[in-house]
Amino acid sequence: MNDILIAPSVLAADFAYLQRDIEMINNSKADWFHIDVMDGLFVPNISFGMPVIKSIAAHAKKPLDVHLMIIDPDRYIKAFADLGTNILSVHYEACTHLHRSLQAIKAEGMQAGVAINPHTNVSLLEDTINDIDLVCMMSVNPGFGGQSFIENTYKKIKQLRKIIEANGASTKIEIDGGVTNENAKQLVAAGADVLVAGSYVFGSTDPSQTIQDLKKLTNN
Ligand code: DX5
Ligand code: ZN
Repeated sequence: MNDILIAPSVLAADFAYLQRDIEMINNSKADWFHIDVMDGLFVPNISFGMPVIKSIAAHAKKPLDVHLMIIDPDRYIKAFADLGTNILSVHYEACTHLHRSLQAIKAEGMQAGVAINPHTNVSLLEDTINDIDLVCMMSVNPGFGGQSFIENTYKKIKQLRKIIEANGASTKIEIDGGVTNENAKQLVAAGADVLVAGSYVFGSTDPSQTIQDLKKLTNN
């Protein structure tokens, strides 16, 4: 089995101590920085924008996995590339021309991700799967950290894994929302490659240890 990746979500960090929390991720067993961008339109919440991400990028020593929860994301693809984004995910539900958006992300030298809401059927990705480096499968409704995991996600992971295999694609499956030590192993067993964890990591007394525990739990 491939190494299972852990991507702590910066949304759950303490923004008054952002550098401390970035260094914690740098020095932990985490693999990626998961960065949630919300516009108050696609989702009912606003998170943070370019100046904050620029500061994160200046200190982060691991790949930046940016999850755009914004309408019409094509407008910002270049801006996110310029900030140093490694993997850029746009929402399926926010893209009229998803294939074009994926090509535009790759043309800027980034890996192309597609995020899907809990109600979006994975079969809708069949025709673009070979162009997708990462599917960010939402296991909560996007917009907020700290929500409860939606159990239907396991079924969707298995369905998506079949589509990836049937098409000989190398797409990674990332699970985003409500990930804890209680569901991590089952998510990996269903076919997940990357686990995002926000409040579970930052709400713990020792976030670095929690990341290490998640890493160990999912790679055994
Ligand atoms: C939700 C975000 C998630 C969120 C995860 O809209 O996309 O990345 O930060 O947070 P937890 O792990 O607390 O559910
Ligand atoms: Zn996210």
